Amino acid sequence: MKNYALVLAAGKGTRMKSDIPKVAFPILRKPMIEYIVENIEKSSVEEIYLVLGYKREVVEGIVKDRAKYVYQEEQLGTGHAAMMAAPVLSKLDGNTFIMPGDVPLIWYKSIDRMFAVHEDNGNDFTIVTAHYDDPEGYGRIVRNEQGVIQRIVEEKDANDFEKEIKEVNTGIYIVNNKKFFSLLKNLNNNNAKGEYYITDMVELMKKDYKIGSYMIKNNSLAMGVNDLYAISKAEKYLREYINKDHMLNGVSMINPETITIGHNVIIEPGVTINPNTTITGETVIKAGAIVGPNTEIHNSRIDSHVVVRHSLVYDSIVREGTTVGPFAHLRDHADIGTHNRIGNFVEVKKSSTGHNTKASHLAYIGDSVVGESVNFGCGSVTVNYDGKLKHKTEIGDNVFIGCNTNLIAPIKIGDNVFIAAGSTVTKDIPNNGFAIARSRQVTKEDYSKYLIKPKENKE
Ligand code: UD1
Ligand code: CA
Repeated sequence: MKNYALVLAAGKGTRMKSDIPKVAFPILRKPMIEYIVENIEKSSVEEIYLVLGYKREVVEGIVKDRAKYVYQEEQLGTGHAAMMAAPVLSKLDGNTFIMPGDVPLIWYKSIDRMFAVHEDNGNDFTIVTAHYDDPEGYGRIVRNEQGVIQRIVEEKDANDFEKEIKEVNTGIYIVNNKKFFSLLKNLNNNNAKGEYYITDMVELMKKDYKIGSYMIKNNSLAMGVNDLYAISKAEKYLREYINKDHMLNGVSMINPETITIGHNVIIEPGVTINPNTTITGETVIKAGAIVGPNTEIHNSRIDSHVVVRHSLVYDSIVREGTTVGPFAHLRDHADIGTHNRIGNFVEVKKSSTGHNTKASHLAYIGDSVVGESVNFGCGSVTVNYDGKLKHKTEIGDNVFIGCNTNLIAPIKIGDNVFIAAGSTVTKDIPNNGFAIARSRQVTKEDYSKYLIKPKENKE
């Protein structure tokens, strides 16, 4: 028997007050639906079905061919969404894990535990519940005196007594395909919202089939996200889980509550992360690196013993032993060589540098290939843009670039070149050359009195 998953994700997410379909909304810079698909993929589920409707192309663009799609043209409720998949799933032997697309913190190990409980108890319909001290917004689980589930009542349909119930419906279920999906068409929409509720399946199934439940102990893993406040709470929980995992794995974090690490980031033991640092995307940080404070790193590789302080690193590589910052900006595939120094207010874009190169202060390096042991003086600029096109700068090894130098691209500087400070270099410089490109100084003796009042002699 195969295990299937059905994720209900056709809704707009009106309470988000945003045009982005809710399940595509990012949590720690990654769309909600990706967390769900990733965890289902890690579980025993073999095939994933996704019910889409509102802006389905946005969600398909994220999930691609990792799921099969079912469409719900009009969003008439969670039961109606599940009906869209009934023609397929009612014919497949096995069990289906059903969940809403707005419960992003679901964990693959819990999914497998739910399947185990469902099978061990011989259930036809397992309802995953959680206990919340503040259950507002969730459907409540109504049990009889023997503790058997009688029905699920939505907040809007609940009476005052039912509203006091703290056991809630997580919206997650495991169902026997044939039994559940063939009964689904009997749902009606006689309720406060005029929708077909999947939760009403309890009443339809309880007569002839076995209904059971599974209470998820860590209730934050089952939280539903309906608005932007819930997004912030989900991020807080996720941050805590992720940071704890890294710390137990040997990553030291100073003030971890101010540190945000994305779900797919790999950090080796022996890394130190300082406060107010955000590391997201497909980033890898290697042993001995020190990152932060006040740093953002996204989709980048930071090698061993690199130090990045007060800086931004996007889509870039920083190789072993290099220091970055304070206030540096690496972006668009910057590839910084080993033992470099990229210092105060230096921007590097779409450029590579060799071993031991330094740009310690106030420089812009763009569209350049830079060799080893190059020194960029303070204020040097690769002038890559002529107003229409971007041009390339090539710099050899062992080059000294004096302060306030402009290298007007396209341009090629050879090895062992020395460029005098203040030069605007427009022509290539061959190996071993010296270039100076600035106007000569004129000094007029005893002339300043025409320009400034001389300082009085107080003797
Ligand atoms: C639902 C449950 C509630 C539970 C809560 C848990 C119902 C009736 N209520 O309420 O008992 O406590 O989840 O988080 O099931 N969707 C569709 N098509 C539709 C309507 C919804 O695909 O026509 C999808 C949404 O995109 C969403 C999910 O189903 O991802 C849940 O819908 P939502 O409106 O958020 O349900 P809740 O009110 O939170
Ligand atoms: Ca919800």
